[in-house]
Amino acid sequence: MTAAPPALLERYRRLLAQPREPFPITLGEGSTPLIRTRRLGAEIGLEELYLKYEGTNPTGSFKDRGMVLAVNRAASSGARAVVCASTGNTAASAAAYAAAAGLPCFVVLPAGKVARGKLAQALVAGARLVMVDGNFDEALAAVRRLGDEGVAAVVNSVNPDRLDGQQTAAWEVCDALGRPPDALALPVGNAGNITAYWRGFTRYAGEGLIESRPRMLGFQADGAAPIVRGEPVAEPETIATAIRIGNPASWAGATAARDDSGGSIESVSDDEILAAQRDVAHLEGIFCEPASAAGVAGVRKLASGGRLHRSETVVCVLTGHGLKDPDAVQAEEGSLAAVAPEVDAIRSAMGI
Ligand code: F0G
Repeated sequence: MTAAPPALLERYRRLLAQPREPFPITLGEGSTPLIRTRRLGAEIGLEELYLKYEGTNPTGSFKDRGMVLAVNRAASSGARAVVCASTGNTAASAAAYAAAAGLPCFVVLPAGKVARGKLAQALVAGARLVMVDGNFDEALAAVRRLGDEGVAAVVNSVNPDRLDGQQTAAWEVCDALGRPPDALALPVGNAGNITAYWRGFTRYAGEGLIESRPRMLGFQADGAAPIVRGEPVAEPETIATAIRIGNPASWAGATAARDDSGGSIESVSDDEILAAQRDVAHLEGIFCEPASAAGVAGVRKLASGGRLHRSETVVCVLTGHGLKDPDAVQAEEGSLAAVAPEVDAIRSAMGI
């Protein structure tokens, strides 16, 4: 048996904390696996394709990395409550960390567009859910106003602690590989995570811990691709509800990451996203939510177009766990209709 890894904020205390700053709240976030693919990379045409599986975080997404820092600081600075707008994962994470801190939590969500598992997570942790008849962008605008009025501490990624904490994922990738990858691919919604990864790689380079920085490859969904189009999308639409965002808060951070790294931000279709989600599960046994598969869909596109070389080391970030959104999975094989509990009927249903 090995001992549990140290809490994330302790592990990177030197890079994140004020001197002697206490971090009493932790749910065991971070230290997620970097998995070298065996079958998916071969299928896509990459010899070294890794998956950074953020679904193993306590609430099943990368949001916990920044939320742990934001909620520790909200609690220690005497906040009375926390509030966020969310497509679901931020809400689930905020609710959990606020519960651990003993703080009330308010989450503002686009009605009818949040995956069931995420709603359940926020509810069970005792958050107050407010559904709005509008999209994420409208919810975030309202939450920022509430923050300005001092109603509660805003724990969206406009809170700098969130992106500071999310840098730890870039550091873990470098620590696990012993070097930076050549390229890092991830989904882009509100654009905080691509901003945080780039900041993390840049910080590690500044510390002399890595000698180069990867190309940042961001992928939006075709129906929610404001950065690709160069203008906000008033009514974003995609099956990947986590990234159903039309006017990202960290737009400038994302384009800076793209341009400074020599990378790109492009879009993929819902069909490509669902195919990638299925392939990650079929070929590697890893279940991620649809938005998480956007990076894999994008890498497949770039590799097939000759824009990634087969000898390059590529990391795809799988941002959230598939169990959050079971409704997005269509059973294509196997029928859910019941047969008689007899060997003959079962054998025939098995197709043998
Ligand atoms: N993947 C998942 C699973 C997400 O939940 C999100 C964002 C992203 C990718 C995109 O990351 O916004 O930093 O560019 N979810 C936010 C939320 C918006 O409210 O949970 P981003």
